[in-house]
Amino acid sequence: MDKTHLVDEITGHRRMRRNRKADWTRRLVQENRLTVDDLIWPIFIVPGTGIVDPIAAMPGVSRMSIDKAVEAVREAADLGIPAIATFPDIEMELRDETGSNSLVANNLINQATAAIKKAVPNIGIITDVALDPFTSHGHDGILRDGIIVNDETVDQIVKAAVMQADAGADIIAPSEMMDGRIGAIRRGLDAAGHQDVGIMSYATKFSSGFYGPYREAINTSGLLKGDKNSYYISPANGTEAVRDAALDVEEGADMLMVKPGLAYLDICWRIKEAFGLPTFAYQVSGEYTQIKAAAMNGWIDGDRIMMETLLCFKRAGCDGILTYFAIEAAKKLSKG
Ligand code: PBG
Repeated sequence: MDKTHLVDEITGHRRMRRNRKADWTRRLVQENRLTVDDLIWPIFIVPGTGIVDPIAAMPGVSRMSIDKAVEAVREAADLGIPAIATFPDIEMELRDETGSNSLVANNLINQATAAIKKAVPNIGIITDVALDPFTSHGHDGILRDGIIVNDETVDQIVKAAVMQADAGADIIAPSEMMDGRIGAIRRGLDAAGHQDVGIMSYATKFSSGFYGPYREAINTSGLLKGDKNSYYISPANGTEAVRDAALDVEEGADMLMVKPGLAYLDICWRIKEAFGLPTFAYQVSGEYTQIKAAAMNGWIDGDRIMMETLLCFKRAGCDGILTYFAIEAAKKLSKG
């Protein structure tokens, strides 16, 4: 042995680099893999026709009218993306204190669902029932005397969920973090004959600064008074997040989601370990935007970091990822 080296004999028997030495060994020992089946694509819908309106704070993402969304979703389905998630940018005139437009059967979001379902029947459609796109104050629930009232909000979102299912939604994903909503939505869907419509709970939704660009996308940033700290979870609390998810599991959630994603990988892992349900991370608007912005400045390799972050969600136990990168990532994956 060459005594000039400090590596000892024990190390000699345990060289981690043997498995990393060549492309073929690295492929052989790879533990996690990202595939197109892991991707859910969130899209923004606006009224009108022929509209593709770029969102300044989310380079590469646009609000689309339903006809354009149908075309885009067809492309997503052709790429093999299993599901989309839709968010509406509702006209300001239709927003009010209680978000009453959420209870209009042929509102923008339900029209979009029906049109997409008809044109692209083989892609899953996930809809949100939070009231924030519909309220004049940008909160996710009904605001009364400065308080977001829980039980009234739940009554309303159950009705909205049934209408979304009537329109063809495959999975209802409630993001407003009201207590008891999963059980109430399950009962409401079942009573309306929608036993096969699933629920993906935004089980652990944190009160986060990473949602900034989304609020620009659906034009709620100028409306929102105060913050959402009385219903979203504090970024400081992991055990509370697991408890909240446990209630959703008891109440009948089919799938769980952690949101935002990258800063909350510990929560993804804990929830997957604790419940074993299909678990998803939402790589939210701010996460997307910071990667895009740095890449546009030439400061990071955007493609590489896109794929790296998506793979890291898999390593953290996620079954899939809601991501604005879905189309780009799917194209990259299909090239191999
Ligand atoms: C609200 C909602 C939010 C997002 C989707 N639905 C957060 C919020 O504005 O409070 C965020 C999505 C994103 O940032 O990409 N119910």
